[in-house]
Amino acid sequence: MVVGIIGSGTMGSGIAQVAATAGNAVKVFDTKKEALEKSKLALEKILSRLIEKGRITEGDKSNIQGNIQYVDSLQDLSDTDLVIEAIIENLEIKQKVFSELESYVSEETIIASNTSSLSIASIAASLKKPERCIGIHFFNPAPLMKLVEVIPAVQTSEDITKKVVSIITDWKKVVALAKDTPGFIVNRVARPFYGESLRIFEEGIADISTIDQSLKELGGFRMGPFELMDFIGNDVNYTVTETVFTAFYYDPRYKPSFTQKRLSEAGYLGRKSGKGYYNYDDGGRVTSQNVGGASSSNRTEKISKEELPQYIFNRVLVMLINEAADALFWNIASAEDIDNAMTKGVNYPKGLLAWADQKGIDWCVNKLDKLYNEYHEDRYRCSPILRRMLEENKQFFND
Ligand SMILES: NC(=O)c1ccc[n+]([C@@H]2O[C@H](COP(=O)([O-])OP(=O)(O)OC[C@H]3O[C@@H](n4cnc5c(N)ncnc54)[C@H](O)[C@@H]3O)[C@@H](O)[C@H]2O)c1
Repeated sequence: MVVGIIGSGTMGSGIAQVAATAGNAVKVFDTKKEALEKSKLALEKILSRLIEKGRITEGDKSNIQGNIQYVDSLQDLSDTDLVIEAIIENLEIKQKVFSELESYVSEETIIASNTSSLSIASIAASLKKPERCIGIHFFNPAPLMKLVEVIPAVQTSEDITKKVVSIITDWKKVVALAKDTPGFIVNRVARPFYGESLRIFEEGIADISTIDQSLKELGGFRMGPFELMDFIGNDVNYTVTETVFTAFYYDPRYKPSFTQKRLSEAGYLGRKSGKGYYNYDDGGRVTSQNVGGASSSNRTEKISKEELPQYIFNRVLVMLINEAADALFWNIASAEDIDNAMTKGVNYPKGLLAWADQKGIDWCVNKLDKLYNEYHEDRYRCSPILRRMLEENKQFFND
């Protein structure tokens, strides 16, 4: 199969590596010559490192590199069977590129987008044959992350979806099929990990390092939410939250945080700028001085220092579970795919729905109702599916 990649930045380069490693002929196009050069050099480094680690042989390296051709015009993708676009996140530009691409490729070529936040329907609408368009959403770094969300648009034919699921499975990835809705699965379900943690901080309940520690130690998350936001970049993470919030017609569950907005405005973007929630100046880390420690909480029901880590973990976890349950309620994906998405796309220690079963549906409903009764905010509304399951004494996986 001949695979075309448009855009040789972070994602395009990673996807090209995945497709070439799976034995496909890959053609990579970027409007910037320097980007193509950079991508080629980055691949050389990555593959050399894989040889050092004993993961691939010299022969594998030359095969993978031999499979990739860097081209300097979109027209060079005319003989491709599948094209995955990974350019700038801008609808008008993507639509323009898709419509031009369609004039070069055959009737059968599948045209896919790696967009994180745009609707696949709106991108597909730029094509004369929109039924061939689909979302194929890889996670960063694409060669390492197992998950790929496959997102058929309303226009996509069933045949194209089947073909794409089979291709991506052949590339040794785990597919989660998602509805074309904001954030698909992962970028929707993961929002409370950041949002509720920021809220706990902003209310003055705990400082950021206590929140990070609680989720790592009690939850088994590899990184705490503030460490992770610094890693992703506060500008990027803020934009995803704001996009999801706007796309959901301002549902308060996804409300962005002023703390993160201010850090982003100040250029405290995280690791990449040397400063975020933590400082990364000389490789070492200093705690929360950029946003200050926890100011005092004005809650009437005080939480003791000993109870604080458990309180933080429970609150963030139950909000994540509620989000995952609600995604199932709205038929965004199957229960299996929702859990796979979080363990294989963002390395969660457990699937959230399996976690709900383990904690007990009554535990989830009670915790959410307690938060709702305290705040009377729509943000804390319990998903109808959890309430229904409690009434019917059901579990997500064990029935
Ligand atoms: N970075 C992530 O973590 C991530 C994860 C999943 C999905 N995505 C999505 O993948 C896409 C690419 O993101 P990225 O992080 O790789 O961006 P990036 O900035 O690293 O790379 C984008 C590349 O596209 C090129 N480009 C821009 N306009 C072009 C055009 N008209 N034709 C050809 N090339 C063009 C740029 O020169 C650049 O090299 C976006 O839609 C983004 O939302 C990103």
